[in-house]
Amino acid sequence: MKPASNTPDWVLAALEERRQQDLMRRTITLDSPQIPHTQIQSQDYTAFCSNDYLGLANHPKLIKALNDTAQAYGVGGGSSHLVCGHLAPHQALEEALADWLGYERVMLFSTGYMANLGVISALADKNRPIVQDKLNHASLIDGALLAQAQLRRYLHGDVESAQKLIARSAPGGLLITDGVFSMDGDIAPLAELSQLANQHDWMFMVDDAHGLGCLGENGRGCLALEGLDATSLPILVGTLGKAFGTAGAFVATSNDYADYLTQFARPYVYTTAMSPAIAGATLASLQLIQSAEGQERRDRLARHITYFRQRVQSLPVTLMPSNTAIQPIVIGDSKAAIAISEQLKVLGIWCTAIRPPTVPVGSARLRITLSAAHSDEDLVLLCDSLEKVLTAKLLNAKCLNPKRLNTK
Ligand SMILES: Cc1ncc(COP(=O)(O)O)c(C=O)c1O
Repeated sequence: MKPASNTPDWVLAALEERRQQDLMRRTITLDSPQIPHTQIQSQDYTAFCSNDYLGLANHPKLIKALNDTAQAYGVGGGSSHLVCGHLAPHQALEEALADWLGYERVMLFSTGYMANLGVISALADKNRPIVQDKLNHASLIDGALLAQAQLRRYLHGDVESAQKLIARSAPGGLLITDGVFSMDGDIAPLAELSQLANQHDWMFMVDDAHGLGCLGENGRGCLALEGLDATSLPILVGTLGKAFGTAGAFVATSNDYADYLTQFARPYVYTTAMSPAIAGATLASLQLIQSAEGQERRDRLARHITYFRQRVQSLPVTLMPSNTAIQPIVIGDSKAAIAISEQLKVLGIWCTAIRPPTVPVGSARLRITLSAAHSDEDLVLLCDSLEKVLTAKLLNAKCLNPKRLNTK
């Protein structure tokens, strides 16, 4: 029977298909701030799936900076950056980010998704092709679609594969990679990719959403880890909703590229500037990231990563080659991934199962993320719980097929 809302049949069919494939997504409401000891539907959980890698999302200094900036500059940006929405806190943040990373200019965007759409659609077109890693974030793929550029995707992390695709493409294109891969946690071979782009006279762009703040000297991300700079990596995108603990994004680049993007990056031109209060909070976050406290947080995170990998290596799963805060356990089947996530919930662990199309078909996973805000006890609880849930005994008891676990 057709529902009263007159929903078209194709919408209902698409929903039903998602349900049948165990791929239906729903939002989950947290009753607490973004902290590891979270409350969901009146239950207490220790969460291991947030991108708040340094535990700054609920930091008192950020909350104070947000309040203080809102007192001084209000809440809303009021218009786009180019009309009258670029306030002093935006300018201060742009200058501080540029200084930290060693670039001539930084431009703020409202989200990382929009930054990638904006930069790619401005730089690529029908005559300027794009070559990018197969596992790049969805926003980098969507940017290529918006650009209407020819898009070729190379084998994950494979410089030779990238080289072959560039050789087959029209000249003067754009080579793009994630810095830290969002669903796998590994790091792209940035120095080699930079050389490749340089040899072919291509533009080179890196989205370091998951590296900035967490990795490298002073938290400068993959750039610092791989010994790159503004010349070898001319277009660097960073997001502010992850290690920075706030919201928004930026591109760090040269004066010329920034001037060009200011004219032609439509998701920059035709949208309201981020809240000035968020810019103020993000400046406080950047100061923390650069301080001794920031380094302590990175060190604690690194200790958690080492402990986790040591404990999990004895379980019947394969760890990904990741030394970052993202430590996925690939399960394969979506139903099995959901079942394991549910079993972890019973033990007080919250880790949402990540399924296609976010990850390739057959590679549903627990995308476990670690944070400096986790305590040593939290890590022990996580590893003990995984041990219980992932051992064959429990899997059999819950009618899961352990062969489906990735035991490569
Ligand atoms: C690699 C990467 N780039 C961009 C984004 C989008 O950033 P935002 O959440 O700020 O839109 C994400 C995340 O969600 C990401 O993982």
